[in-house]
Amino acid sequence: MCGIVGYLGQKEAYPILIKGLHRLEYRGYDSAGIALINGGLNVYKRKGKVAELEAFVKGKDISGPIGIAHTRWATHGEPTDENAHPHMSQSKELSLIHNGIIENYDVLRNELINRGYTFNSHTDTEVLVYLIEDIQKNEGVELSEAVRIALNQVIGAYAIVILSKNDPDTLIAAKKGSPLVIGIGEDEFFIASDATPIVEYTKEVVYLNDEEMAVIRRNNDLRIKTIKNQDKTPYIQTLEMNLSQLEKGGFEHFMLKEIYEQPRSIMDSMRGRLNAKKGIVSLGGIIDYEQKMVAANRIIIIACGTSWHAGLVGEYLFEDLARTPVEVEYASEFRYRNPVIYENDVVIAISQSGETADTLAAIELARSKGATILGICNVVGSSIARATDAGSYTHAGPEIGVASTKAFTAQVTVLTLMALRIAQLKGTLSKSRFQQILFELESIPEKVEKTLKVSKRVITIAEEFCQVRNFLYLGRGYNFPVALEGALKLKEISYIHAEGYPAAEMKHGPIALIDEEMPVVFIAPLKGVYEKVISNIQEVKARRGKVIAIVTEGDHAVSEMADYTIEIPETEEMLVPLLATIPLQKLSYHIALMRGCNVDQPRNLAKSVTVE
Ligand code: F6R
Repeated sequence: MCGIVGYLGQKEAYPILIKGLHRLEYRGYDSAGIALINGGLNVYKRKGKVAELEAFVKGKDISGPIGIAHTRWATHGEPTDENAHPHMSQSKELSLIHNGIIENYDVLRNELINRGYTFNSHTDTEVLVYLIEDIQKNEGVELSEAVRIALNQVIGAYAIVILSKNDPDTLIAAKKGSPLVIGIGEDEFFIASDATPIVEYTKEVVYLNDEEMAVIRRNNDLRIKTIKNQDKTPYIQTLEMNLSQLEKGGFEHFMLKEIYEQPRSIMDSMRGRLNAKKGIVSLGGIIDYEQKMVAANRIIIIACGTSWHAGLVGEYLFEDLARTPVEVEYASEFRYRNPVIYENDVVIAISQSGETADTLAAIELARSKGATILGICNVVGSSIARATDAGSYTHAGPEIGVASTKAFTAQVTVLTLMALRIAQLKGTLSKSRFQQILFELESIPEKVEKTLKVSKRVITIAEEFCQVRNFLYLGRGYNFPVALEGALKLKEISYIHAEGYPAAEMKHGPIALIDEEMPVVFIAPLKGVYEKVISNIQEVKARRGKVIAIVTEGDHAVSEMADYTIEIPETEEMLVPLLATIPLQKLSYHIALMRGCNVDQPRNLAKSVTVE
């Protein structure tokens, strides 16, 4: 999604802004632009990557100690130079960058056209900057007041930063729905969509809340008020992130680095929460809500994409271990289908970024019906983390690769801990069985480390299948969500069509697709319904499909039938997803690489989906 960077201080803004845009590239975008004031207001923007913007500004005036910059992920209007941000007001005095969607932009645009304005782009953003200028001129108010009045007229989501040629000492920012964070340095301020462009300059930040605006002036002058004109005291927080987490650390891609970080990210997600020897599972963030979870008639999990797949694993975990009924909902469907929610339902929202617009809206809906809402988020201080009653962070560290990897396994880890804790409180597991699972969970980071060593095998399989057009992923029980996640990873980064199914569903339709060209990935560990999965594999072999099987070390039956096998260490059934996912991530990675795809920034995708 769009990325925002702003700077006001004593240094040259351009290098800081460009570096900031590079840091935000992971969010996904299709054009970039920058506005700087040094006497005049200079605006440069280009379709394509930030590097193209850098080439375009060579030899041009890029000086000035104040500026704003933007990467755009197209919503209204194609990715073109004209539609790129920043957008200027009619008089060319104001310049604005925006993340979000102004839903009533068409009405506002027509009103402005009737008043004689002409537009240069097809964006909702240009409408907003024209509206602000129109208010400023007609009502004779200061810029910040004009911004406030305009924001009361717009419907939709926004994070904006605006600068004025006539006031080179001020930046105005505001947000609703889309994230915005302000970094406070020594005589300087930074603004960004997330903390990644800020962390190398300062750790002191203020996250704006919805419908808040900040007026930032030189000499450490930061004022925050709501768009209803109520003053707010800035709440300064300290970032936990560090710079090395945002760099590739010797890996060719962020995605590969993040795949290899999983022993650590799973460990970090368990750190201080699990002590198998003493039989303790404790999640500090939800301690006050444990009794609500114990008493809950139902848990509803809301999420999107990969986080939704983690939620599906959560369904098996809570039902199996804690005997609590679970429904897993796509947040985008839940929010619009008038769901039945009772006050004693516990809703768990799962989100890596903590900014997904559909998940946020689903939380608001659940809240309006009186449910308790818990969050599982990776980004500390994110909108979803703040919108929930309580929650547990995943501690996976920043995930920069657009395709989610370590966030998924961290989410499954936290869901496992939660389900175990509720099982303990409800007494649905015997003490010895409970402790047995805890010991096994403690050994998972080591087993993930071992699983990561399958590269050679995975590369051979990737070479064989990297040119096919379709893939099928099949698994049962806990491994059905793993099949879905494996298929999603492959289609996201390699653009090969892939579908995940519960293995037994194959005969109800997808079996028609099987022929000698069709690779079928089976997640077939020596657990649960192993025998049944063997029958499903036979059905594929009988139709000459190619079988790639994820099997437990020492497996014979499946290995004899499959064309290729990848071994994972033996573990408890409910923990298999934490291991079986790893080779599937690596398979997608290598196939994408062999097809020449941009692994870290796949086409059309955004890391944090802040529009619905
Ligand atoms: C897949 C992926 C997406 C996200 C989805 C939800 O690799 O990254 O499917 O999982 O957009 O995002 P979060 O978890 O940030 O709410």
